[in-house]
This record gives sequence, structure tokens and C-alpha cells, in this order.
Amino acid sequence: MRTGKATATAMAIALAVVLLCIAPRRVRSASDNRLIVGMTLVRNASAIGALCLDGSLPAYHLHRGFGAGEHNWLLQFEGGGWCNDIPSCLERANTRRGSTRYMTKYEVFSGILSNNASLNPDFYNWNRVKLRYCDGASFAGDAKFDNGTSLLYFRGQRIWRAIIHDLLPKGLGRAQKALLSGCSAGGLASFLHCDNFAEYLPRNASVKCLSDAGFFLDERDISLNHTMRSFYDDLVSLQGVEKNLDKNCTSSLVYPAMCFFPQYTLKYITTPFFILNSAYDVYQFHHILVPSSADVHGHWNRCKLDPAACTDSQLEILQGFRNDMLATLRMFYQYSGRGGLFINSCFAHCQSELQETWLAVDSPKVNNKTISEAVGDWYYSRRVSKEIDCPYPCDKTCHNLIPVSGLPQVHLTEEI
Ligand SMILES: *[C@@H]1O[C@H](CO)[C@@H](O)[C@H](O)[C@H]1NC(C)=O
Ligand SMILES: *[C@@H]1O[C@H](CO)[C@@H](O)[C@H](O)[C@H]1NC(C)=O
Ligand SMILES: *[C@@H]1O[C@H](CO)[C@@H](O)[C@H](O)[C@H]1NC(C)=O
Ligand SMILES: *[C@@H]1O[C@H](CO)[C@@H](O)[C@H](O)[C@H]1NC(C)=O
Ligand SMILES: *[C@@H]1O[C@H](CO)[C@@H](O)[C@H](O)[C@H]1NC(C)=O
Ligand SMILES: *[C@@H]1O[C@H](CO)[C@@H](O)[C@H](O)[C@H]1NC(C)=O
Ligand SMILES: *[C@@H]1O[C@H](CO)[C@@H](O)[C@H](O)[C@H]1NC(C)=O
Repeated sequence: MRTGKATATAMAIALAVVLLCIAPRRVRSASDNRLIVGMTLVRNASAIGALCLDGSLPAYHLHRGFGAGEHNWLLQFEGGGWCNDIPSCLERANTRRGSTRYMTKYEVFSGILSNNASLNPDFYNWNRVKLRYCDGASFAGDAKFDNGTSLLYFRGQRIWRAIIHDLLPKGLGRAQKALLSGCSAGGLASFLHCDNFAEYLPRNASVKCLSDAGFFLDERDISLNHTMRSFYDDLVSLQGVEKNLDKNCTSSLVYPAMCFFPQYTLKYITTPFFILNSAYDVYQFHHILVPSSADVHGHWNRCKLDPAACTDSQLEILQGFRNDMLATLRMFYQYSGRGGLFINSCFAHCQSELQETWLAVDSPKVNNKTISEAVGDWYYSRRVSKEIDCPYPCDKTCHNLIPVSGLPQVHLTEEI
């Protein structure tokens, strides 16, 4: 199956725009006491060929835990879309999405990464690590492209291993509590690496995983095309991902590449898992359900910018998407005793790293619970934590952080 460059580019652009709309809010919200954490390059990574798309060294940002959290570790995969063909990966290799050379060397830690007890009561004193994303396949590929003039490293899986090996002697190897987390493509990475993470840690440690906005659905678009499936199919074969997918899953499916979709891998994950996602995830809405290839006349443009502008038939399609997501999660909801769930109905994408959505006076709630509370309750087994919101537009706590694909093109080049 082929997906054109247009789709690949669209995926990258979409992501850049989502980030564009998030960045100013994050800065504004915590402007007084922002926690800014410097980058650590993984110097030993080159020894095992763990390199970013362009051959630069991979990196993470670590803020040390303290007090009662000194031996606990939270690892957060950065997100940032994917690249599924040579042209889009070459382009990406020259941006902050494919090279640590172009990345900001300092990152703001907020939301689940905050060190402030009143903003992040359950994890503030843990060791908190942000794993920078520079491979383009959710830290899961292992291949190389070299035709003599162009060179690309698809080494996500090795980057994952290199970072873990760098952190183990820094205390991760003696962790008592640990949480592997991530947002978007990073949320998908936490599905893919969850059980492997647990294997690195002491047997008596409490290890759990969280995916934020990473539950990408195997859903047809409005023109009935499998846009996302063919995108992932290209990605998995280009970047050599298949051999790193869950073996139980790949051996059970006719098309093993499908195990890149969390819905097929989920039942084989044995480590306790929490799924945080919006039922109207903006990225999925704009790129899985209504990619521009399926809406060439732009009938959805206004609806994409503002759910209040959607027609009744468009809303019906969106409700159908939500129903499909809930149906896909039904087994997990009913039978996963140690699992947690927070599926709200806000038009958003990534809600754990933003202070406004994680925990604030007016942050989103389901059944009067904030995301921070729901995740904390689940992690510490304080109570069952499986929250499913009522359908749009009933939830008045949403921020609907939408205006994603409406920004002028001009900004895109700065971000991608
Ligand atoms: C923690 O956050 C609260 C609420 O925003 C703020 O009042 C307080 O100053 C912060 N504490 C520190 C040490 O930054
Ligand atoms: C190598 O691949 C790039 C990108 O696809 C292409 O532009 C270039 O012409 C190729 N070089 C050779 C020698 O085939
Ligand atoms: C880097 O590699 C060297 C040699 O293999 C090893 O002695 C050293 O402990 C490694 N350092 C880290 C931080 O992993
Ligand atoms: C796990 O076992 C080690 C060694 O016996 C011990 O030092 C550590 O405190 C234990 N951790 C937990 C979380 O019980
Ligand atoms: C995965 O496969 C292994 C070996 O076939 C089996 O022992 C294990 O129970 C399976 N795990 C799950 C979650 O199905
Ligand atoms: C559906 O997918 C096929 C094959 O990838 C493509 O040729 C066709 O243009 C697509 N149609 C739409 C409406 O996206
Ligand atoms: C919602 O939670 C807040 C704080 O936890 C509490 O003060 C309030 O009474 C709760 N409201 C309802 C309707 O349960």
C-alpha cells in the first residue's frame, strides 16, 4: 500500500500546528515559576548505533527526584508525528523532529512533569525524564537508508535502549516505583515499550504505563479509505518496525504491521496500563477521520476549527468515531482490573503535560475528577479509575484547544 507524500507532509504539518497552539499557553500559564530543564546527550549511544534520523546523538532531559520520591522514576516520551517515506524523513532529519542539533536545549517541565506539589501532587518529587523524539517511528524502528547520496538512520528502538542503559546506573535500575508515559506518537511509544520497560526494572518495583493521546484508531476516513492503516503500513516497513512489535500480537495477526495500532497490542500488555485520550482527539479527527485527501472541497474546514460550527451530519460522524473508540476499549474497560481509563469529550490532543489540562482550577473533569487525580488514583490504587465522559457537547469543563489547522502557513516552516 502507498500513501502519498502529501499525507506524510500533512501528518508533520498537523503536528507542528498542534504544538504551535499549545506552546504559548504553556508558557503563559506558569510564567512565574517555570521549571526549565537542560538536555543530556547520550554520548554512548553511537556505540550501539542509536542515532537520530540525521545521525546526531539522542537526548533526554532529567530533573532529579527528592525526598520520598527519590527512588521513583517517571519517563515521558516526547511526541511529534511520524515520517513514512524517504522524502518526508529527509525533510524531517533537518528539523527538531529528526535531529538533536535543531532541538531546544532546554525544556519546560509542567503538568505531569512539574516539580510543584500543588500542580502535580502524585509525581512532583519523582525523578522525571523527558525522552526526546528524533527517529520518526515512535522509538520502535531499526533500519537504515543509504543510497550513496542520502543517509537516514531509523534507529528508534536502539535510542530507547541507549537511553534506558544510560539511566539505569543513574538510579533507574534501583527504582521502587516507575511510570512510563508519553503523548501522541510518544503515547503510542508507551504502548509499544511498556512490558520491555518493566523487564529492565527490579522485580519488586511497582511499574506501570500511561498513554496520553496515543490511542490511534484503526478507523476508515469519511471516504471509507484506510488512510491511517496505509500510513502505518508504509512507516512500519520503511523503518523496520515489525520485528520490534509485540511477538504475541504479530503472531496472531495476518498483517503483523497492524500491531503498531495500540488496539491490537493492548491485550498482550501485562504491565498495568492507563489510557488517557479524548474521544474527539483533534489529531485523529483531522488526520484519521477527515484527512484533507478525503475532504478535497473543504466541507469540514469550519467544523475542524470549531465544533460549534459542525453540521448535524458532521456531528453524527464525530459521534460515530467516539462510539468506535469506546467499543474498541470495551474489553479493557470491563476486564482490565489493574487498568485505568480517562476518555473525555474535549477537542484536544495531549492533556498530561499542559498544566491547564492536567491540574488547574478550571481543568477538564469527568465525574468531578481531574486528569491528575484520575491518574494518581490509578497509579497508587486508591480507587478504581475508569472515567468515560458523556458525548459532546455535554462537558462544560473542556477547553477545546482546537484552532489547529487554521493557522497561517507562514508559521509552519518555523516549527517543522
Ligand atoms: C507552586 O504552584 C503554586 C500554584 O500555582 C504557586 O502558588 C507556588 O508559588 C508554586 N511553588 C513553587 C515553589 O514554585
Ligand atoms: C538517493 O535518494 C534520494 C532521495 O530519494 C534521491 O534524491 C537521490 O537521487 C538518490 N540517489 C541515488 C544515487 O540514487
Ligand atoms: C559508556 O560506555 C563505556 C564503555 O562501554 C562504559 O564503561 C560506560 O560505563 C558507559 N557510560 C554510560 C553512562 O553508560
Ligand atoms: C526491592 O528489593 C530490594 C532488595 O531486596 C530492596 O532494597 C528494595 O527496597 C525493594 N523495593 C521495594 C519497592 O520494595
Ligand atoms: C505471550 O506468549 C507467550 C509465549 O508464547 C506466553 O507465555 C504468554 O502468556 C503470552 N502473553 C500474553 C499476554 O498473551
Ligand atoms: C483512497 O485511496 C486510494 C488508494 O490509496 C487513492 O487512490 C484514492 O485517491 C483515495 N481516495 C480518497 C478520496 O482519498
Ligand atoms: C467535586 O470535587 C471537589 C474537590 O474535590 C469538591 O469540593 C466538590 O464538592 C465536588 N463536587 C461534587 C458535585 O461532587
